[in-house]
Amino acid sequence: MQPHSKNNNKNYDVLIIGSGGAGLSLALKLADHATHVAVLSKFALTAGSTYYAQGGISAVFDADDSIESHIEDTLDAGAGLCNPDIVRLTVTQGKCSIDWLREQGVAFTEEQTATGEKILHLNREGGHSHRRIVHTADATGKAVSLSLIERAREHDNIELFEHHNVVELITTLPTYPVDRKIVGAYVLDSHQQKVKTMTAKVVVLATGGASKVYLYSTNPQSATGDGIALAWRAGCRVSNMEFMQFHPTCLYHPNAQSFLISEAVRGEGGKLILPDGSPFMHKFDARAELAPRDIVARAIDHEIKKRGIDCVYLDISHKPEAFILEHFPTIHRKCLKFGIDITKQPIPVVPSAHYTCGGVLTDSYARTDIANLYAIGEVASTGLHGANRMASNSLLECLVFAERASIDILQKIDTIAAPTSVPEWDDSQVSDSDEEVVVSHNWDELRHFMWDYVGIVRTDKRLHRAMSRVELLKSEITEYYSNFRVTSDLLELRNLVIVAELIIRCAQQRKESRGLHYTLDYPESDSSKSPQNTVLVP
Ligand code: FAD
Ligand code: SIN
Repeated sequence: MQPHSKNNNKNYDVLIIGSGGAGLSLALKLADHATHVAVLSKFALTAGSTYYAQGGISAVFDADDSIESHIEDTLDAGAGLCNPDIVRLTVTQGKCSIDWLREQGVAFTEEQTATGEKILHLNREGGHSHRRIVHTADATGKAVSLSLIERAREHDNIELFEHHNVVELITTLPTYPVDRKIVGAYVLDSHQQKVKTMTAKVVVLATGGASKVYLYSTNPQSATGDGIALAWRAGCRVSNMEFMQFHPTCLYHPNAQSFLISEAVRGEGGKLILPDGSPFMHKFDARAELAPRDIVARAIDHEIKKRGIDCVYLDISHKPEAFILEHFPTIHRKCLKFGIDITKQPIPVVPSAHYTCGGVLTDSYARTDIANLYAIGEVASTGLHGANRMASNSLLECLVFAERASIDILQKIDTIAAPTSVPEWDDSQVSDSDEEVVVSHNWDELRHFMWDYVGIVRTDKRLHRAMSRVELLKSEITEYYSNFRVTSDLLELRNLVIVAELIIRCAQQRKESRGLHYTLDYPESDSSKSPQNTVLVP
């Protein structure tokens, strides 16, 4: 889509990089207060993970549930590293975040009580001690994404830019950390193949996660950790990158690209079984299939490696067909395409990279280390997830931190001067690439060794091997970037290699196993001191 002609000078109050749940929620909250907002997506507006979210959004609605219980479950899943204040702040905003989404037109699945009253239907997922997942059947993200996009398209104060890929953030001072301020971003318009300069009083990173750094991932193409790399290069601290979450159940089929089988399937009684039909989760945790994700993913990985099998199976076929079709229509349809009828057959599944728990370090108003630069959603490390995110707490975080950022931005926007004299992008010294194969080869190599050496089970030796390869790739990519005109693939690769380095550096610093970080060299958590976050300073 071409930019609207609502604002000709391309100078905005707020530039939001990302059109997922976090970015669009913030855009709407700001635009309703007469703030002029530009929202960028490097592909289509639906490109982020939000559109693909299945299970739902956690919030306390059930009469038997409580805020305290949601807090306790989140802290427990986070293995000692959640920030309790942030957890409380987030969880207490659950109900009003859902109410806000309903005001934007999101239709959640409802059920009727015995007295005929319509109430929200609540799913259950791993780590949650109650039913508390608000959802739209098994395609919650699509419902959220389409409603927010529709509202944003209608809004006079929002300009939407598809296929606009941020190359670099623009800050005022070259020296960190004295008074460095954000003033905008250089943005590649992928259709016109031209780098534009977009300036703004405030810039917000809402770029999603980095799971595409791994060979197998549930995430869409967009999840290349761009926001984390952009912030890092601009001078922001990054935290807890060792906690990359692997979802236990991704469909295992040669032709299925990254299709998730929602945790809600286990929440509704789905059993994990071996090829001979025997269950195994009870051997790993008393909560069996409903243990937090790190435990279930590790258990599956263990069984696959021990037995030399390709996958395990998730079986929901004991439930009535009508129930399966009502609750899991998307999963049913998708599996059927691959010849698997989930009402009659177990689903072949494997763990896959799913979620980036760490990211750009922010405070409780989503502020980063650079003045007027914010980070919200999966790109941020707020302290909510600790060492392991609990299911369906991510969309909640997107909504709550969009609200928190909006409060801070609205309070100060009128006091920030509009940036002036920002230099244009200069590509007069570079030429078009003559060997695109370098980019595609390096992409493959990076994702392979990250999967093999920095996956679910790590060792010092594997991390060391991975770091040596990252260093080689980094120098090759830097040289390529300096000589050739930028393309979307090159930008993503350049960012991914930085993200890989940050993951490995964090993993190397953690001399214990905790949450999602499991290493054979230090298989226990270090109980000699209180749990520490890993913070990298640029
Ligand atoms: P995203 O929705 O990923 O959006 C990122 C945006 O940034 C996109 O618009 C992208 O184009 C843009 N972008 C990125 N880089 C650039 C750049 N350089 N320039 C311009 N634009 C850029 N969480 C839950 O809570 N509940 C669930 O049920 C759930 N299910 C999930 C199922 C799947 C299959 C997946 C993959 C994730 C799921 N998650 C779920 C996680 C959750 O969906 C994500 O964490 C969340 O949607 C992230 O939202 P976001 O707005 O931060 O980023
Ligand atoms: C799922 O539906 O299993 C995904 C939920 C999440 O990632 O929070």
